Amino acid sequence: MKINDLRIDRKRLQKSLEEMAKIGATPGGGVQRLTLSDEDKRARDLLVQWLKGLDLTITVDEMGNIFGRRGGKNNDLPPVMSGSHIDSQPKGGRFDGILGVMGPLEVLHTLNENKVETERPLEIVAWTNEEGCRFPPAMVSSGVWSGALDKQWAYDKTDVDGKRFEDELIRIGYKGDEPAEKRPVHAYYEYHIEQGPILEKNGIDIGAPKGILCLHWYDIYLEGEANQVGPTPMEGRHDALCAASEMILKVNDVPEKMGGNMVATVGEIQNYPNSRNIIPDGVHFTVDIRSWDDEKAIQAWNSLQLDFEAIAKRRGCPIRIEETWRVNHAPFDENLVQRVLETADELGHSKLHMVSGAGHDASYMNQVCPTAMIFVPSINGRSHVEVEETTWEDCANGANVLLHCMIKAANDI
Ligand code: GLV
Ligand code: MN
Ligand code: MN
Repeated sequence: MKINDLRIDRKRLQKSLEEMAKIGATPGGGVQRLTLSDEDKRARDLLVQWLKGLDLTITVDEMGNIFGRRGGKNNDLPPVMSGSHIDSQPKGGRFDGILGVMGPLEVLHTLNENKVETERPLEIVAWTNEEGCRFPPAMVSSGVWSGALDKQWAYDKTDVDGKRFEDELIRIGYKGDEPAEKRPVHAYYEYHIEQGPILEKNGIDIGAPKGILCLHWYDIYLEGEANQVGPTPMEGRHDALCAASEMILKVNDVPEKMGGNMVATVGEIQNYPNSRNIIPDGVHFTVDIRSWDDEKAIQAWNSLQLDFEAIAKRRGCPIRIEETWRVNHAPFDENLVQRVLETADELGHSKLHMVSGAGHDASYMNQVCPTAMIFVPSINGRSHVEVEETTWEDCANGANVLLHCMIKAANDI
């Protein structure tokens, strides 16, 4: 068979996604596979079993990142890498992350069964803790691997129950020996669902993002004064939840004020003591700001901080702010992006040059090597929810684009 006619096995791709979706399946049709949970471990075990079946050289590094390497004709050349993540959001979807692991797995399967040799080695990778919902921040293990984040800092992160990242990594048996350190990579492709509405709305098969928005995370802690709600007059209260409420609306309003393609969200809140008849005396909430323009995102934060301090003062609620994490916007390698667009064309798919609003490990990989992503449509633009859905046909289309992008990159010399 001519190499250009090579296609992945769409039924096998569907089956692998369906098998993975059983691990942590939720009644609403999604998955809950929080990072370093028992479900994460079971999905990793299954992945490793499949990697072994493909005769790959498997390594697990100190962050629990799993690599599977298929040799090339010249194993001294840096490899072409593709991967994503296995972990999910609480009550998340069946495609976010895992499609970007099952996609390259299917590519390697296809190459093996067709006995296709490449000049360069090929590697599949599953990054630990992309979501960051259990152990903030997100993309932490590609961050450590790329040299942008400190390993010990990541190890010491705790979840809401006080469990440490490193302890949980050891508990599930995935703290490997390999150093979590960057090494030369020729090209990194990450295959992912779009997680937004653009492709579907425009009837487009394949998206090729020019890059990823910056991501800035903050944690806000407010103190109030608890008291019996009945006898305490409205005047003179120090209600931490009321202060937080005013702040949350400021966050919602900041993108319009700043302009540009900014989004800003408060997604997590804890209220203490959380009783209907006690005035709240403690609130923690998170702020997520994203933009293509890093400077604008900082300006938005500076303006919010002034608002927060004024609100806290007026309401007599002391405030503590943590600047938790920032990753700059990631403009991808233009040649690699171009190759995704061309490959989509060659395979007869419509394509769109766009932007990724969602964060991906590709953000940190972009700091190490030429990087690009391949997007396929999300039905109704829904993601991070149980109803997240992508058609099997779209899953196969994206995997075929990945297959040919990987073959081309693996034969670059
Ligand atoms: C990662 O899933 C994100 O928050 O975009
Ligand atoms: Mn993802
Ligand atoms: Mn996600």
